[in-house]
Amino acid sequence: MSHDDRQRWNERYQQQAPAPREPSAFLRSLEDRLPRTGRALDLAGGPGHDACWLAKRGLDVTLAELSDVALTQAEGLAREAGVALALLRLDLEVEPLPPGPFDLVVCLNYLWRPLFASLPQVLAPGGLFVFAQPTRSNLRKHPHPSARFLLEDGELPTLLQGLQSLSITEDWAEDSGRHEARVLACRPSKDRHGGARP
Ligand SMILES: C[S@@+](CC[C@H](N)C(=O)[O-])C[C@H]1O[C@@H](n2cnc3c(N)ncnc32)[C@H](O)[C@@H]1O
Repeated sequence: MSHDDRQRWNERYQQQAPAPREPSAFLRSLEDRLPRTGRALDLAGGPGHDACWLAKRGLDVTLAELSDVALTQAEGLAREAGVALALLRLDLEVEPLPPGPFDLVVCLNYLWRPLFASLPQVLAPGGLFVFAQPTRSNLRKHPHPSARFLLEDGELPTLLQGLQSLSITEDWAEDSGRHEARVLACRPSKDRHGGARP
């Protein structure tokens, strides 16, 4: 139930001081490969640390998030950082993705498998997709996230419909200490959703 989920996430963000969080180490590791202009979409982006980092790099960023509290925190973070974010209160389990085309879509630490099928429709031709999520092996060291939020080991490549994987890893990540599947993928420049970028 997404209403319950919203409440749960709101309470969680309310309990945490909105201390500035570092942008994702994985995202930063891709720095040289990510666009600096165009539109980006951060899915379930929480309090906006990754979205602000992308915006500071020059992207026009939309943050789609379930939690109102996270969105308010993201608004504050963006103000402090001197960047503008488009903030979208969205339940990704029941509402469609905002219209693209996006040059970059980021989804970190959030898993809703049906989303993958929509990505080619909102990515620009050649647009990039960055995704990371812990896998079931993570339970060997960490009780959280619980199994229902985890990818199965080896599952990520099977979810990438209509996208071309540029780099994909599944291992214990030094930066997070977690067992994560991570991918940088792109929508091919020519596919059934349309031709090359104008
Ligand atoms: C583990 S946090 C990850 C936040 C951020 N991406 C990060 O890596 O720090 C998961 C996020 O997903 C959001 N979320 C959960 N269910 C959602 C839904 N149905 N639609 C949109 N966002 C959702 C939560 O509010 C939370 O901010």
